[in-house]
Amino acid sequence: MFSKAFSFQKVFAPARRRLLVLLLAVLMAGFGWGLAPVFAAKDIPAVALSPTESITFTEAQLAKGKKLFNAACAQCHVGGQTYPNPDVSLKLSDLEGATPPRDNVLAIVDYIKNPVTYDGVESLLEYHPNTQLISEYPRLRNLTDEDLKLIAGYILVQAKTIPGWGGTKNESHSDLSAYL
Ligand code: HEC
Repeated sequence: MFSKAFSFQKVFAPARRRLLVLLLAVLMAGFGWGLAPVFAAKDIPAVALSPTESITFTEAQLAKGKKLFNAACAQCHVGGQTYPNPDVSLKLSDLEGATPPRDNVLAIVDYIKNPVTYDGVESLLEYHPNTQLISEYPRLRNLTDEDLKLIAGYILVQAKTIPGWGGTKNESHSDLSAYL
């Protein structure tokens, strides 16, 4: 029935090899997916909580911070830019240069409760959205301290990781809508 030349090995060896390669590929893909969140978590940089402490937010916390930021802040701060005052943006160098410096979570939370001018001299309570002037900015009404921390964390992580966050002085507001 079988010719002498027929060899099970010849017929099945390549098939078995293909199966092995396929199995290996599936295993590697599975591993890749399994490890992806671990690597992603490592990519989130720690940010300053205060001038002396730092904090690392989880992916879920940053996702919530982004949602809250988009709802309450993005209309003026899309892409970290500040409309209509691009000189006081949400990029790290601008936040650092403020008085007092705003380059940490608690300082940004404080700003949303009690905003002041860049030189720290005058109150902006009547001008910048804040938790005290809730009638003008109802979106801030339900924000808890925890929410404000998440918004600040989102801003600082963006400022650290997104090139171009904060825009340039002559970039128009609409140019930055892609960041949303
Ligand atoms: C109606 C527009 C508007 C909205 C909404 C708004 N901001 Fe602002 N923001 C501004 C303007 C304008 C300035 C610059 C104020 C100045 O001239 O000092 C500013 C400044 C800031 C600064 C100081 C930046 C620095 O470099 O010192 C921070 C921090 C900030 N905003 C955070 C927020 C956050 C967080 C939200 C949302 C909860 C928000 N802002 C919502 C308009 C807005």
